Amino acid sequence: MKKIIILAACIGISLFIILSCSTDKSPLASKAHPEGWNVTTSEVFHGEKVLASLASGSGLTSCKGCHGQNFEGGESQVACATCHKDYPHPLAWTMLRSSENHGQYIKNEKWSMERCKTCHGADYSGGKSGSSCYHCHKTEQGPEACNVCHGSQKNFAPPEDTKNNVETTAIGVGAHQIHIDAGFGCSICHVVPTTLASPGHLDETPHAEVLPTWSWDHEKATCGNSCHNHPEKTYIWNNF
Ligand code: HEC
Ligand code: HEC
Ligand code: HEC
Ligand code: HEC
Ligand code: HEC
Ligand code: HEC
Repeated sequence: MKKIIILAACIGISLFIILSCSTDKSPLASKAHPEGWNVTTSEVFHGEKVLASLASGSGLTSCKGCHGQNFEGGESQVACATCHKDYPHPLAWTMLRSSENHGQYIKNEKWSMERCKTCHGADYSGGKSGSSCYHCHKTEQGPEACNVCHGSQKNFAPPEDTKNNVETTAIGVGAHQIHIDAGFGCSICHVVPTTLASPGHLDETPHAEVLPTWSWDHEKATCGNSCHNHPEKTYIWNNF
């Protein structure tokens, strides 16, 4: 019993020493990497090195040895994500049922895919990463196709809305399909963007815009003025 206690104490003390050494904030220059490794304008900037090795197919294997299999730090104790949360990609990005997949990530970035383009190519066909978005987003417009963020194979109108709702009680879904089935196009209610980047499409407003003709009231989910005004009945967009 005594031996075990002594052994445990020894392990404890050595752990303490190892941990306190490795968290030592000594101001010595980096030994693991050349000077300029973290300076974007430097010839030895790590970003350029990594992109070059991705292009040549050798990938990130060499970093894993010290920065960990998941790039969470490993023995270097420096996670890549402390500086850029989007690269190397978190595992959950390709778990398509996960609430942390790449689609959700883009949504949280206000739908911007500009960062993706720096590696996956301005046209998303792979670029320096060699990994094309068209593997999965197979239609002509790839990840910018009109039903990637809202709508379905049937048409671009919700469901699904931009918050992943599918029930007609959600205001983003509402009576869309009833109107589409009745033969109306998006343009009777919206200014319809021609591309993802069209002005007014992904703007800072909290809700999608409805044409002023209909005096749409988001809070009440009703149109002040519509094709089916009726003195005794109020038509509620998401309750019918
Ligand atoms: C101390 C901060 C820091 C750490 C840690 C770090 N990076 Fe970077 N990295 C940067 C900066 C700054 C840039 C350039 C600006 C940017 O793209 O965010 C960059 C850019 C890159 C780029 C170029 C792509 C681009 O966005 O322009 C790659 C690839 C990259 N880093 C890979 C890695 C990998 C792999 C690791 C972990 C092994 C890592 N980085 C750790 C700071 C860091
Ligand atoms: C031999 C081990 C080792 C390997 C291999 C390694 N690193 Fe590191 N890296 C470290 C250590 C240790 C640190 C933290 C302290 C330092 O800079 O010495 C670090 C720090 C960093 C930093 C932050 C530098 C700063 O100025 O804060 C970046 C960026 C980085 N590594 C990127 C990479 C990339 C990208 C690869 C693969 C191409 C890689 N490392 C491979 C050990 C390594
Ligand atoms: C392995 C297949 C696959 C690859 C590769 C892929 N995606 Fe996706 N992506 C999906 C699937 C499946 C969904 C739908 C996930 C869902 O319904 O939550 C999706 C959703 C999205 C969404 C919609 C997000 C939302 O919440 O509505 C965007 C935007 C997107 N991807 C962009 C991209 C970009 C940009 C690339 C390339 C850099 C890419 N995807 C590569 C499979 C993929
Ligand atoms: C620094 C470069 C870089 C950036 C920025 C980047 N990617 Fe990637 N991505 C890669 C590389 C390289 C791969 C190939 C496998 C790997 O290394 O993870 C990849 C793989 C993927 C995959 C898996 C592909 C498959 O077929 O399984 C998805 C999904 C993806 N990226 C989405 C995105 C999205 C979405 C963005 C923007 C938010 C983005 N990437 C930004 C470099 C990048
Ligand atoms: C990357 C995701 C994404 C893609 C791709 C996308 N949309 Fe959207 N769309 C949104 C979001 C988010 C909103 C809600 C904007 C708001 O709240 O103002 C929206 C709103 C709309 C609206 C409602 C009116 C408005 O502008 O608010 C219409 C119509 C529309 N999109 C049509 C399209 C068409 C047509 C395309 C293809 C050219 C397309 N969308 C591609 C994310 C996307
Ligand atoms: C009868 C009028 C009407 C028609 C037709 C219509 N919409 Fe809408 N749309 C609305 C209303 C109302 C909202 C909810 C606005 C709000 O939240 O304040 C909305 C919201 C949206 C949103 C945002 C959903 C969210 O996540 O909040 C998108 C995207 C959208 N519409 C796309 C379309 C597309 C694409 C079409 C054509 C295929 C279309 N709509 C046709 C009335 C219409």
